[in-house]
Amino acid sequence: MAEEKRKTMKIPFMITPSESQALMSELNVSSLPELLPLLVPSAQLLSRTPISSFPVGAVGLGSSGRIYVGVNLEFPGLPLHHSVHAEQFLVTNALLHREPSLDLIAVSAAPCGHCRQFLQELRNSSQIRILVTSDGPGSDFRPLSDFLPRPFGPPDLLKEDVPLLLEAKVEEEEEEEEKEKRVNGFGSDMEGRLREAAVRVAGRAHAPYSGCRSGFAVADAEGRVYAGAYMESAAYNPSVGPAQAAAIAYVAGGGGGWEGIVGGVLVEAEGAAVEQEGTVTIFMEKVAPRAQFWVHRL
Ligand code: THU
Ligand code: ZN
Repeated sequence: MAEEKRKTMKIPFMITPSESQALMSELNVSSLPELLPLLVPSAQLLSRTPISSFPVGAVGLGSSGRIYVGVNLEFPGLPLHHSVHAEQFLVTNALLHREPSLDLIAVSAAPCGHCRQFLQELRNSSQIRILVTSDGPGSDFRPLSDFLPRPFGPPDLLKEDVPLLLEAKVEEEEEEEEKEKRVNGFGSDMEGRLREAAVRVAGRAHAPYSGCRSGFAVADAEGRVYAGAYMESAAYNPSVGPAQAAAIAYVAGGGGGWEGIVGGVLVEAEGAAVEQEGTVTIFMEKVAPRAQFWVHRL
């Protein structure tokens, strides 16, 4: 039986409550806290690690009952700080699905300092409970406050009523967004469609420290659109840039190799204190050099 449980399988980046019920009976466990660590090896298979060959998988449970998967992404030819950590992927994935909060995370390796810091952006983050599967059998979920006992975080910089990550209220036409996912080919207006998606996702960016929201939307040759929102950290450096967020949306949305990206539109404010254009240009030159790339100012 133990052998059976260690098997890997193909899992989606978002698992609905009914799918997790099916997985629980398949893996012969009776609770979600037992299920999460069993999915970690399958999550690891989805990582893209051409530099380290160190796949990290993170599996998180949201308060909606949905399970989200996160993996690390590495980009050859770029400085290491362009990399995406599995935990950051997981939080971005949750944001893109409008998940209100994360309760439990099972991850294959101990979360690094940046990830412990980044998770501070969630309300009541000290109560998020984390299990590290490499600690071996018998390891359990422990609160983030055990991993980062004396945090620097949003309360050091923001008033209490400022929305934190996953809390932003957005009015958007979800119908429009659904339509966008279904388009088959762009006709002549790839830039226009990408701009709409990037503007919309920028509305969900988490930028309480700089006020400089941004979003990046990329497209594949079939006309599918993948959009990601910029997310800041109170400690600045662990922030997730719009290019990384779009790469996460691309992988989570079923995108293939990076060469499948044919176009991208970055949306950000004019003359803002924080500017993404230079970094995103460098990212696109290395990751999808043949793609068309436009910048739109809000
Ligand atoms: N990594 C994570 O994904 N999460 C962590 O917190 C630890 C490190 C990734 C980053 C990089 O792709 C590889 O593991 C080696 O550091
Ligand atoms: Zn990390």
